[in-house]
Amino acid sequence: MEKVYYYTGSGHSRAVAEYIAEGLGRHTEDITVGEHEAEDGAVTVVVFPVYCENMPDAVAGFLGTVKTGSAAVAAVYGGISPGNVLFEAQSILKRPLIAAAAVFAGHSFLSEGNSFDRETLDGFVGKIKKPAPVAVPPMRRSFYADFAPGWRSRVGLKIVKNDGCTECGKCEENCPVGAIFCGTPSNGCIRCLRCVSTCPANALSFECRPFLRRYLERKKKEKSFLYI
Ligand SMILES: Cc1cc2nc3c(=O)[nH]c(=O)nc-3n(C[C@H](O)[C@H](O)[C@H](O)COP(=O)(O)O)c2cc1C
Ligand code: SF4
Ligand code: SF4
Repeated sequence: MEKVYYYTGSGHSRAVAEYIAEGLGRHTEDITVGEHEAEDGAVTVVVFPVYCENMPDAVAGFLGTVKTGSAAVAAVYGGISPGNVLFEAQSILKRPLIAAAAVFAGHSFLSEGNSFDRETLDGFVGKIKKPAPVAVPPMRRSFYADFAPGWRSRVGLKIVKNDGCTECGKCEENCPVGAIFCGTPSNGCIRCLRCVSTCPANALSFECRPFLRRYLERKKKEKSFLYI
């Protein structure tokens, strides 16, 4: 059976992928950690979060492995800006794109839950059921999108470990960029928050600095983009 592939830090993209998978009668596969390749299929569906107006590197690599049929991509973003990720995904794919959506969902830095725009996703699912190529136009991208995104996230957000850490090593297994040891992130951390959301002992939490929180709350809009 064809799958819906997803990458996720704090779980929003997984929830979106599960919603799409249910609409299509498919299973999901998590591609966040490790090497993954798209299986052959008629329409490869990939769901991923927007980080600093970029797609995660692993997602760009995965899109390059789609070798058959066509593709549909859903970028999950926190209502600030999806940047130009849909156009970039279209450029990486060597196959036709049949549906693309930038779907606003909760912003992980604001501790918002798994709410997402179902109406846009219903249109996305409907197009996958009746596929035909679509062209995504370039979208506006911030001048600062490529300016040390990981560093900017680290400055704005602190990860805190409490006494409950059992040194189980799960956070090391779950980190997509190999940037944590026993609950202590290193300088390679991109602040995706996957370690926080998957720690079995709930030993990790995060603090969003007030300047970043104020900025995000001021900029947040509930707008999705759908190309079908
Ligand atoms: C490191 C990081 C950077 C982010 N950058 C953006 C951004 O540039 N624009 C935006 O609208 N949301 C941004 N967000 C919010 C996420 O796109 C949003 O919370 C998404 O739902 C996260 O999906 P996930 O839980 O699957 O990781 C960022 C979140 C993180 C963790
Ligand atoms: S997953 Fe949690 S409990 Fe396990 S080592 Fe990491 S922080 Fe500690
Ligand atoms: S250490 Fe950083 S990059 Fe790794 S899972 Fe945790 S937040 Fe993500």
